[in-house]
Amino acid sequence: MERRVALVTGGTRGIGLGCAEALAREGWNLAVCGVRAEAEVRDSLDGLRGLGAEVHYLQADIGDDGSPRLLTEGVRDRFRRLDLLVNNAGVAPKERKDILEAAPESYDRVLRTNLRGPYFLTQAAARFMVERKTAGCIIFISSMSASVVSLNRGEYCISKAGLSMASQLWAVRLAEEGISVFEVRPGIIHTDMTAAVKEKYDRLIGQGLTLQKRWGTPADVGRAVAMLARGDLPYSTGQVILVDGGLTVQRL
Ligand SMILES: NC(=O)c1ccc[n+]([C@@H]2O[C@H](COP(=O)([O-])OP(=O)(O)OC[C@H]3O[C@@H](n4cnc5c(N)ncnc54)[C@H](OP(=O)(O)O)[C@@H]3O)[C@@H](O)[C@H]2O)c1
Repeated sequence: MERRVALVTGGTRGIGLGCAEALAREGWNLAVCGVRAEAEVRDSLDGLRGLGAEVHYLQADIGDDGSPRLLTEGVRDRFRRLDLLVNNAGVAPKERKDILEAAPESYDRVLRTNLRGPYFLTQAAARFMVERKTAGCIIFISSMSASVVSLNRGEYCISKAGLSMASQLWAVRLAEEGISVFEVRPGIIHTDMTAAVKEKYDRLIGQGLTLQKRWGTPADVGRAVAMLARGDLPYSTGQVILVDGGLTVQRL
């Protein structure tokens, strides 16, 4: 049988790589994108190939207006099909600043990358799936920050809350096309993004911030994505899957 194809944005490190690895192990071919040049991400690409996937790298900034077209055309040219889009790529603010101090430039950068980019990439990918009559799947990697307030990164919280609504909008629009849409909401995951706040979260996790007293890993998120991609939640489109070690369970 022809292998199915996934496009994973930011699939060369961190959570995106965890998703790409999980999918490669389950027999998917992969298109992955990132902002770095291909030569800089060769080790990650080779690792995915070592898991049996055919891998195509596309260098693109998802916030650029031309990227949705560049990425979907790149997938079409190489694989002629697209079965799964994982909207993973995202950024944190370069500096964490109280919302009384934060700058409009940081707001624009974070919203452009984390919300505008995936919103319009989804539009382009969905058109491709609809045109090919693919019963595909679209997954948004949001964050616990969609619902948990952090006063020193308001723009990040807003971008993820917006992404959560984008997931619902696309779930409603694409249901009639046979395309499932999910939001995967990670908690505190050990990646380059969280390296700068490692000691703080080590302490908070030790004090019981999460019910499961450890950092999450990219593989934890990858396994959730692979489960959805496999079709193991066939009657749940539009839902949020939490991968946060119980961080958001309310306690008294
Ligand atoms: N880490 C956490 O605790 C955590 C928790 C909840 C949600 N998340 C979300 O999970 C996603 C991945 O986070 P991570 O921790 O794995 O981050 P990361 O380690 O910093 O990796 C980010 C990935 O996204 C790519 N990327 C960044 N900006 C891009 C752009 N403008 N265009 C295309 N690709 C871009 C990067 O590409 P290059 O490698 O080329 O730079 C990289 O592959 C993000 O959306 C993040 O908000 C993370």
